[in-house]
Amino acid sequence: MEGILADKKILVMGVANKRSIAWGCAQEMAKQGATIIYTYQNERMKKSVARLAEDDQRLIECDVASDESINRAFTTIKERFGQLDGLVHAIAYARKEELAGSILDTTRDGYALAQDVSAYSLLAVAKAAHQLDLLKRPASIVTLTYFGSERAIPSYNVMGVAKAALEANVRYLARDMGEFGVRVNAISAGAMKTLAVTGISGHADLLKMSKSRTVDDQSVTLPEIGGTCAFLMSDLSTGVVGDVIYVDKGVHLI
Ligand SMILES: NC(=O)c1ccc[n+]([C@@H]2O[C@H](COP(=O)([O-])OP(=O)(O)OC[C@H]3O[C@@H](n4cnc5c(N)ncnc54)[C@H](O)[C@@H]3O)[C@@H](O)[C@H]2O)c1
Repeated sequence: MEGILADKKILVMGVANKRSIAWGCAQEMAKQGATIIYTYQNERMKKSVARLAEDDQRLIECDVASDESINRAFTTIKERFGQLDGLVHAIAYARKEELAGSILDTTRDGYALAQDVSAYSLLAVAKAAHQLDLLKRPASIVTLTYFGSERAIPSYNVMGVAKAALEANVRYLARDMGEFGVRVNAISAGAMKTLAVTGISGHADLLKMSKSRTVDDQSVTLPEIGGTCAFLMSDLSTGVVGDVIYVDKGVHLI
């Protein structure tokens, strides 16, 4: 198949359903010729991902809160597919109670959990992929972040802190994986109604406010985010390293 990702094999982590940003990325990358391999969080998630992915061989369980699960998943990927050209990390989690009200209500446990699943997990998967020699040269890693890393967005709280850590992880990983031909970047996506967002208290207002701050009063779409992901996975972007690219229709400007 023709396209900027012809012959590339890309792992997409974080599809929950057809609204998932990971699914938008997967679709745009497939249109550009990539073969997509998916990981899903657990058995409960498998059903909806399987309906989208269609091929059971390309569907692998991976809970990023567990090193054992990551190692099992990546070993299976290596056995089945050899090496990968890229990895998309579109995973985040914080407790619903901590995505509301004041950050003063954050608990030690909740803070650690949000950091573990939403920020450390990028390091964990990059490390596992590197140790198993899973990534080709050149390869690309892309993660998904949000503007709440820089500004105090209502209710985003502990997740904003986790996204700040995630973006710092992108820079340090980019520095240390560069010599292996792996570049690491983040997409800072505009607010979209996904399963993860419905965990944020007052998410309807957040989505409304975000839409009103775009340059043309139209929210960003999944294909727009996916298109940028396809570019970052392609060899057109080999000079883009350790960066955070906004795909939010200008919300961060206004
Ligand atoms: N929706 C938005 O407005 C928005 C904006 C900017 C960035 N993002 C980021 O995009 C990414 C994808 O989120 P989304 O909005 O598409 O929501 P989503 O709910 O569709 O995706 C979140 C995914 O994280 C996975 N996940 C959570 N804990 C996990 C674990 N322990 N192991 C493996 N997977 C786990 C879930 O299974 C799910 O597939 C997240 O990092 C999110 O913060 C979202």
